[in-house]
Amino acid sequence: MSGPVDAIVTGVGAYLPANAVSNSDLEMRVETSDAWIQARTGIRQRHVAADGELTSDLALAAARAALTDAGVDGAELDLIVLATTTPDSTFPATATKVQAALGMTQGAAFDVQAVCAGFIYAVSVAANALAAGQAAKALVIGAETFTRLLDWNDRSTCVLFGDGAGAILLEGRPSNGADRTGVLSSHLHSDGRYYDLLYVDGGPSSTGTTGHVRMQGPEVFKHAVNKLSDAVREALAANDLESGDVDWFVPHQANKRIIDGTAKKLGIDPGRVILTVDRHANTSAASIPLALHQGVADGRIKKGDLVVLEAIGGGLSWGASVIRW
Ligand code: UT7
Repeated sequence: MSGPVDAIVTGVGAYLPANAVSNSDLEMRVETSDAWIQARTGIRQRHVAADGELTSDLALAAARAALTDAGVDGAELDLIVLATTTPDSTFPATATKVQAALGMTQGAAFDVQAVCAGFIYAVSVAANALAAGQAAKALVIGAETFTRLLDWNDRSTCVLFGDGAGAILLEGRPSNGADRTGVLSSHLHSDGRYYDLLYVDGGPSSTGTTGHVRMQGPEVFKHAVNKLSDAVREALAANDLESGDVDWFVPHQANKRIIDGTAKKLGIDPGRVILTVDRHANTSAASIPLALHQGVADGRIKKGDLVVLEAIGGGLSWGASVIRW
């Protein structure tokens, strides 16, 4: 395809493991309460992958659902970008397992690692590849078995996370330059000075173990609202848009208080916010595509709508994307 290309969303899919674990279930395991978790985070339950159920299994289920939604066969794909912090193995990329299972033998499949901001990074990479003519049909997946990184002796983190996967199919279409649709722009940021605020205390080159999540929650919280609202403002301004133009705000689902605070700062009507944190908890790179799937499945997100995504996570890494659905 020569000339400008729009990266349009033609399919959405999601997968959640069957096992839903309530806050009350966690009361049996750690010194916590349903009341504390709900009041501080908005979380009521999270899904947890079964023993032997891997990130690639979750990713594949979401990928298949997105392909079915789009009416596209896996063999037609020429790019898979999979955002995950919890790969099946240190290498190769989990995306290559999904690639083989989908019957895709051309193009490229790789993982991106930006923790909870991973889906924004993956959308950016895939949309840029379509715009550059490197691919025509790109599957963008966020998939995590994040509960495998939890320290069940640390109540300040173990109640916050869940497992799941979501996927969108992006297809390149000739653009007329005006009235653009699809991914309008993505805006990525990271600042490694904040590495120690949210990290895993293991890894192949340091301890040789997988490690567990460590987080200075209140510090991350303070950065989150400011950095997310700045990124969304930057993304809207780049497209000559204002917060009043946003049909659906689809934020990373870490904490309802962060989502409410960010939406308020931006002047976005709470009725325009897609919320899944109550049922999914924080599924890291999977949270945005899971929320997108929810919004599309229940009829809220429709063709032509302006959809704004944002996320922040370890690094710190953060960003925002604007999509004309
Ligand atoms: O997705 C990546 C980005 N991550 C985030 O966005 C997470 C950002 N941070 C947060 O969401 C919040 O900071 C938390 C939910 C992690 C914590 O909420 P908080 O309002 O900042 O609480 P806190 O850490 O200041 O803790 C308040 C109290 C403490 O007790 P004291 O010291 O006041 O007596 C904690 O020990 O709550 C206690 N606490 C708990 N109590 C019951 C901490 N965890 C729990 C728990 N159950 N699970």
